[in-house]
Amino acid sequence: MAVVDSFDFLLKELERTCTNTRDILAVIGVLYACKRTLQCLTGLIKATNDHLLSKLSYISNYKKRFGPWAVVTGSSEGIGLAYAKELANRGLNIVMISRGENKLYRAAKDIEEQYKVETCTIAVDFAHGKEIYEKIWSLIKDKEIGILVNNVGVMYEFPQLFLDVPVERLWSLVNVNVAAATMMTHLIMPQMVQRGKGAVVMLASGSSSQITPQMTVYAATKYFLDYFARGLQYEYRDSGVIVQSLMPFYVATRMTRYSQTLSKPGLFIPSADTYAKSAIATLGYSSRTSGYWPHTIQAWISDSIPEWLWMWGATRLNNALRRQGQEKLHHKKTLRKRGSELSIESDS
Ligand SMILES: NC(=O)c1ccc[n+]([C@@H]2O[C@H](COP(=O)([O-])OP(=O)(O)OC[C@H]3O[C@@H](n4cnc5c(N)ncnc54)[C@H](OP(=O)(O)O)[C@@H]3O)[C@@H](O)[C@H]2O)c1
Repeated sequence: MAVVDSFDFLLKELERTCTNTRDILAVIGVLYACKRTLQCLTGLIKATNDHLLSKLSYISNYKKRFGPWAVVTGSSEGIGLAYAKELANRGLNIVMISRGENKLYRAAKDIEEQYKVETCTIAVDFAHGKEIYEKIWSLIKDKEIGILVNNVGVMYEFPQLFLDVPVERLWSLVNVNVAAATMMTHLIMPQMVQRGKGAVVMLASGSSSQITPQMTVYAATKYFLDYFARGLQYEYRDSGVIVQSLMPFYVATRMTRYSQTLSKPGLFIPSADTYAKSAIATLGYSSRTSGYWPHTIQAWISDSIPEWLWMWGATRLNNALRRQGQEKLHHKKTLRKRGSELSIESDS
């Protein structure tokens, strides 16, 4: 009898505890649901601000708001050139910096003729490090620079494991992606702070939103830029200067040309012009954005999936992209070899 009583007591106790546990779990569930709803709502509000309200920026006068000149690094093609054109379209004079002198000169002439603004071209190689900044400074120091777009950047030839990336490329990744943005900002930002207006845009990347294998050093340099932009924005929040971190996912440019898939512009892989038009409107509206609404959807997905799943997916994608890059490289080498064989035959 005593055993039956104890068992009955035990069951009742268990039921009471379970009800309590169920209540606690229910409260945790409700709190979690509230948190996720709040995250979704803030995400939606931010996306509306970044991609709809920002369209109002077309009525704001960038030249008056920030200053008459813009400096765009890496502006002879790709996103940099598209940015230079968009800024010229808004009436700003442009300082364009890249390596290839002729290509840069031609791009600048087109901009002058099309938008009736002044341009200044500076042909330097950011991979050379410290010595180039004196030359840049001597050519821009008399200009009132309102906007600096730290766009220049290099990637691997195609996605690769760290030890397969040539040493020269690793130095370029550091000197071009990290040092150039740091030193250009250090050169130009003081006059902005002094005037109490200006904007610095940092071209980071969606690849650093989670750990992306086979793009490790590239994504790490982009993480640096995102961190740098966010830190600066806070340090100088009362100075009148705004600092923006732009985190695009794939844009069809020379950088993605190693892959056939990434070279075809579409909704999720825009052309540089489409991307720049959208991203430039967010200046002054958002201090950290993908700059383009389909990329914001990609950023949401990246934020909401666990790291292991992202890394697993990125590895599969980058394996496929690496194969495309290797095939393209092989094809290029074969063509070059055939070309030199033909020229030897015609010489003899
Ligand atoms: N395309 C994408 O999918 C993507 C995605 C996320 C972020 N981004 C970032 O967006 C930025 C622009 O990318 P993009 O795709 O437009 O690149 P891109 O098409 O390869 O153009 C790069 C530009 O930088 C110049 N440049 C390259 N190396 C240089 C060096 N050592 N010194 C001086 N100039 C140099 C190039 O001109 P020269 O060769 O004549 O020097 C060119 O004007 C980069 O920071 C990139 O990381 C791109």
